[in-house]
Amino acid sequence: MEKQELLVSAWTDLEKKQPENTIDFSAISLEITEILNTACLTLSWIKQESLRKSDIDIVTDPMWVEIANTIRDTIKRIIALLEINKIENPSAFIAPLLWHEFYDLSIWSADSARHALEKPYWYAWDMHLMKKSCEKHNPWDNYERLTNLWFLDFPTAESIRQRAKSLYETLKRLPEWSKVLNLACWPALEVQWFLQNFDKKVDFTLLDNDPQTLNYLHQQELDDRVTIKEANAFKLSTQRLANLLDGAKMDLAYTSWLFDYIPAKFAPRITQAMFEQLKVWWKLIIWNYLKLSDTNPHPQRQKFVMEEILDWKLIYRSPDEIRWFLSKLDPETYKYHISTEFFATNPNTPTWSIGFLIVEKLR
Ligand SMILES: C[S@@+](CC[C@H](N)C(=O)[O-])C[C@H]1O[C@@H](n2cnc3c(N)ncnc32)[C@H](O)[C@@H]1O
Repeated sequence: MEKQELLVSAWTDLEKKQPENTIDFSAISLEITEILNTACLTLSWIKQESLRKSDIDIVTDPMWVEIANTIRDTIKRIIALLEINKIENPSAFIAPLLWHEFYDLSIWSADSARHALEKPYWYAWDMHLMKKSCEKHNPWDNYERLTNLWFLDFPTAESIRQRAKSLYETLKRLPEWSKVLNLACWPALEVQWFLQNFDKKVDFTLLDNDPQTLNYLHQQELDDRVTIKEANAFKLSTQRLANLLDGAKMDLAYTSWLFDYIPAKFAPRITQAMFEQLKVWWKLIIWNYLKLSDTNPHPQRQKFVMEEILDWKLIYRSPDEIRWFLSKLDPETYKYHISTEFFATNPNTPTWSIGFLIVEKLR
């Protein structure tokens, strides 16, 4: 079976599974509270100790790392409890967590999690978190560093790192004189990595509609291989985009982490506008988080962290829904497949969480 078919069938199988009706809400809430009580005993102690000792590197010290696992394990235990009880809608179980001291000692103390919650740039994982989560040595101290570990370690954070790496790998393989369009680009980390590490003549056009994004990009003083322009994806037509690109045809056009936020009705038009700018034989890549499937490490309860704790709502799509982005294209003009992190070729890799729609222009 082809990887594409495997993705579709894994998702369809899961859709068929029925939720159970026998849920004892108060017993589960009580169990959550007990898990949190136990964790709090450890955390209060760590907090006092870690604030006192500023001379050790608590992120690499085995004892402290072990203690940091308390937070991660507590969150994992709650998620496991919800999974065992087949809870389809975890929002009913957020209250015991929100009102518990554990919340202040862990989630609210982790500036990465707090940043995701507060959303200074309207979406959870903005440039600041993107940079911090991709850096080897994070700029936090003591207790905060410990509390950040759980957050930067869960599958969503990992898939975000994988996404940037996957795109970077693609850029590295482009031949000299390629032209690349990146729609909704901020912070375009993969482009920045490419510019830092390669002299190859590849021209990038970075488009975004957010003034802060555009300011940030200008401040980076990226080299003359980069053109930065303001563009609103919702208003793009084939002609408008062609004008923005001064009629130049692209070797690669991509947008990552835009479609997860926008209603499906906008997707085919944006897809078409980008596709039409491609040179024949070249590629369009669109990313979207995949819906729950047996091979997706973002099970429904993982959304307990994303949606309930961090108020971070994305649109997860099935391969069929992602395929629908192509609905305005002439089927004779392209071929496509849906790939995953690292554009993995092994369909058995149990780490699928991102759907990369890869479209090749045939004429
Ligand atoms: C979650 S970030 C993704 C950034 C980057 N592509 C990445 O993968 O790290 C979403 C980006 O989409 C931009 N954006 C949101 N709505 C947009 C729109 N209607 N038109 C153009 N850009 C948009 C935001 O300003 C932001 O830079």
